[in-house]
Amino acid sequence: MSIAPAKVAVLASGRGSNLAALLDACARGELPVEFVLVGSDKAAAGALRLAEVADIPTLALDPHGYPDRRAFDLDLLARIAASGAELLVLAGFMRVIDGEALRPWEGRIINIHPSLLPKYRGLHTHRRALEAGDREHGASVHFVTAELDGGPVVAQARLTIEPGDDEQRLAERLLPLEHRLLPATLALLVNRRLQWQAGAVLCDGRTLSAPLSLGEHGLE
Ligand code: GRF
Repeated sequence: MSIAPAKVAVLASGRGSNLAALLDACARGELPVEFVLVGSDKAAAGALRLAEVADIPTLALDPHGYPDRRAFDLDLLARIAASGAELLVLAGFMRVIDGEALRPWEGRIINIHPSLLPKYRGLHTHRRALEAGDREHGASVHFVTAELDGGPVVAQARLTIEPGDDEQRLAERLLPLEHRLLPATLALLVNRRLQWQAGAVLCDGRTLSAPLSLGEHGLE
């Protein structure tokens, strides 16, 4: 008997290279997922075009059409629920989601952020790592809460900052790691190996005391 693939929705505001990495991992058979919806707050987002090409239903919702942020977030997440999605991935979705809208999704939403959280929540993470003189930079996948980039971190990818790195080069060098990190973390969630329960992150039934780390052969 085969198990039905998990139904997953993705939200993205930009070009969608992380979405593309998820689609590729799925096509390679590494991610047992059915993508039921790709949504965006930007009608021009490249992620929506990628979804159309892949025959995935899309949703573009303009926040300006709502009285406030909460109204937008409640409608957005209600539409995602109506798509049948069980899990939601934020892949470059550039908005903080309201806590009330998030509540039914606790433990079912992950986000990828281009820093070694808890360092550098928010924007301009590459620039801030360089300005601080950090020797190491990276990306994190975390469960989403109402606090910007503040939910429990489950997995990270690290890279050494090199003398020739500027903001753009660092971002370019990090991106391929993001593209491995996000599908690998989602696969753990989909396979029910990763859970966030009663305030603790569990992986394979054990409390995760530190984020998993992306190595040569995947998450360790
Ligand atoms: C990525 O760097 C991701 O970590 C951040 O936004 C960027 C999105 O890039 N949250 P893309 O749209 O997936 O190419």
